[in-house]
Amino acid sequence: MDKIIIEGQNPLSGTVSISGAKNAVLPIMTAALMADGISRIDRVPDLRDTRTMIKLMEIVGAKCSFEKGSLKIDGSSVDNPEAPYDLVKTMRASFYVLGPLLARFGSVKVSLPGGCAWGPRPVDFHLKGLEKLGAKITLSSGYIMAEAKRLKGAKISFEFPSVGATGNIVMAAATAEGTTVIENAAREPEIVQLCEYLNTMGASIQGIGSTRIIIDGVDSLHAADIEVIPDRIEAGTFLIAGGLLGEIELTNVNPSHLDSLLLKLKEAGCGIHTSANSIRINPADNLKPVDMTTAVYPGFATDLQAQWVALMTVASGSSVITDTVYHDRFSHIPELNRFGANIKSDNNTAFVRGVNELIGAPVMSTDIRASASLIIAGLIAKGQTTVSRIYHIDRGYEKIEEKFRALGANIIRDNSPG
Ligand code: EPZ
Repeated sequence: MDKIIIEGQNPLSGTVSISGAKNAVLPIMTAALMADGISRIDRVPDLRDTRTMIKLMEIVGAKCSFEKGSLKIDGSSVDNPEAPYDLVKTMRASFYVLGPLLARFGSVKVSLPGGCAWGPRPVDFHLKGLEKLGAKITLSSGYIMAEAKRLKGAKISFEFPSVGATGNIVMAAATAEGTTVIENAAREPEIVQLCEYLNTMGASIQGIGSTRIIIDGVDSLHAADIEVIPDRIEAGTFLIAGGLLGEIELTNVNPSHLDSLLLKLKEAGCGIHTSANSIRINPADNLKPVDMTTAVYPGFATDLQAQWVALMTVASGSSVITDTVYHDRFSHIPELNRFGANIKSDNNTAFVRGVNELIGAPVMSTDIRASASLIIAGLIAKGQTTVSRIYHIDRGYEKIEEKFRALGANIIRDNSPG
């Protein structure tokens, strides 16, 4: 089983190029299923999750070819509207096929995603939204069956601005009869790009990036090309590491997607310089403790919460970190405490007391972003750290150890058996 081995405390320096955004490319791939013809998506990161989604595309009948970051999806041959359990259980984002396949075929069968490392991940907002559009939803043996001759536009209001539910409903509504209005829609950059992509496919979507999205249904969509936006969570992960370990520059990044993080890094004493598509960070001489509460975009991303906790473990004081998006996303805390960190958690809040030094230790990944926080801790810690179960990190980061090694970290991937 692959693991990552780190000898900590190497200073970082140099430039790192940020990959395309995992959470943008996954829904864009499912949108391509709605059109006949070949769609080309550029700057696709080579991840476990993108490979899983390609597998799902092929199971539903699409033809895919993926090389050097460029993915072609031919939706003409899509003929099997079904997403099987053994695939959906490995990646919740598989649920994104529900809206597109229902819209295109009038019936679809998708396995209910299970929970994940940090708890249940319900899909009730997705299902209620589709029912509002006229779908008949039934659940049988762990599968969602959805049927609708033709979806009809409706007014849908989310009790929480769910990223996935917004994506699924926007795609389903794109070819519904009439107009759909989504209130309390997600505003994440990944959903903005999905809506923009659908419009290049012939959809008619307004209010993109606002909490109120209006979709005028069209008869059909056609194939279209797109280049994926930079991955703001990968970028944030590197910035947080640089906040303590050295001056690094990120290229091919969109600083405007990271305003909340950049503000917190400055509060912690880091220097930040940005241009249109780069960010340079200078480490804090004395890392200040900074409280943080996650929120939906443009707030501080929950996907950077674990990484922020890792940084605060060695701040010069105590900090309080609350996750308002997921109330139980703290599986990284027991692992970080194995480094000698001093973190207690209660409900959806972590209480971090800064310590002088972390000491390297063998630790275990539990999910994508928890793994990233363990790598950051290993880079900071004195001595050797071994991070196991790194298939989690490979789901969401492209060659992370190579990118950190190029910045001067002493980090290798050990894929010896046992
Ligand atoms: C997306 O997940 C991201 N995944 C997640 O990133 C990210 O953490 C999350 O958005 C929040 O930003 C992808 O884009 C593939 P939600 P999603 O629906 O869409 C509750 C990563 O590390 N909820 O916005 O599943 C839910 O339980 C991953 O890259 C319902 O109650 O997130 C959560 O508390 C992890 N019912 C909140 O809403 C629903 O039907 C936000 O979930 C849907 C969601």
